[in-house]
Amino acid sequence: MQFNYSPVPSKVVFGENAALSLKDEALALGAERVLIACTQGMRARISHVIDALGDMCVAVYAGAEPHCPQAVAMAALDLFKEKNCDIVVAIGGGSTIGIGKAITLRTDAPLIVVATTPCGSESTPIYGMLIGNHKKTGRDAKVIARTSIYDPVLSTSMSAHHTATIGMNSLAHCVEALYAQVTSPISDLYAVTGIKALVSGLKGSIADGDDLAARAQVLYGGMLSGYCVTLAGIAIHHKLCHVLGGHHGIPHGESNSVVLPYAVAYNETAAPEAMEKIMAAMGTTSASGGIFDFATEINVPKSLKELGMREADLDIAAEETVKTTPYNPKPVDVKSVREMLQQAYEGMRPHPF
Ligand SMILES: [Fe+2]
Repeated sequence: MQFNYSPVPSKVVFGENAALSLKDEALALGAERVLIACTQGMRARISHVIDALGDMCVAVYAGAEPHCPQAVAMAALDLFKEKNCDIVVAIGGGSTIGIGKAITLRTDAPLIVVATTPCGSESTPIYGMLIGNHKKTGRDAKVIARTSIYDPVLSTSMSAHHTATIGMNSLAHCVEALYAQVTSPISDLYAVTGIKALVSGLKGSIADGDDLAARAQVLYGGMLSGYCVTLAGIAIHHKLCHVLGGHHGIPHGESNSVVLPYAVAYNETAAPEAMEKIMAAMGTTSASGGIFDFATEINVPKSLKELGMREADLDIAAEETVKTTPYNPKPVDVKSVREMLQQAYEGMRPHPF
């Protein structure tokens, strides 16, 4: 056995009402003047968290928007500077965390994330911003949250659809970590545990959005999915989802929901050990078929057709995916990827390749 492993440098505080420990966690990082970033919708749900901070909360920027547009992030940065803040706290999912990362990148102020979705972004060095129509991304270890707080009480605001589609993105991060380029026994542990937590947690959360035990499982799986991206990386599934998002306007959770069974089928013969681990974690006899059935059960979109993709665009999407996928267990070629996209377009039960 031979591997390298660097733990994700983020303290974790996990549990019901964990968000109320925010003041102690900010003080532990030597901070005294907090800017909170969130969406307008989240603002109304976190009054008790802001109240618990007392005088330490000197600014609230409740303007987070999907994909973190540049103007939004820069407005939050201006407020941060104007109020002489020394720490940024992002309370929400990927778009809100994007604001926190933009501020940390430019000021070196520590970032605390109170994660209310399972996106896992708090644990990754990847940051991004929407500039015009392009999502510009980069990597810097300093944007990893110094402290990550997971509070299932705050995640009950997520709709069933949002929970399921963001959950499929987290599931995909765990699944792909099992066959990505930099696997290790430790990333495998995170991935397998993450898959189990997401499968049980998503079923429970969708059956009852107020089931805090199920919500906790989803957040736990999401946390592990972030570790998976940071430790192991991604492969064809996520590259294809980025193509579908960047060039064809399909939201990330939706593309993940549709594509994952087909990406796994694509790799089924090339990565047999990973498939064994997926099947064991999901309790199924087929990795791609098990994910397909799970997606059906939690009622996420099942075809590119229903997401509004044009069949005529499948050729260019296949070419773009092949161009931008540096590593995948089964080598990528335009003909095979196009065949996979056809299956995803129609939403049929995935066939092996
Ligand atoms: Fe993702």
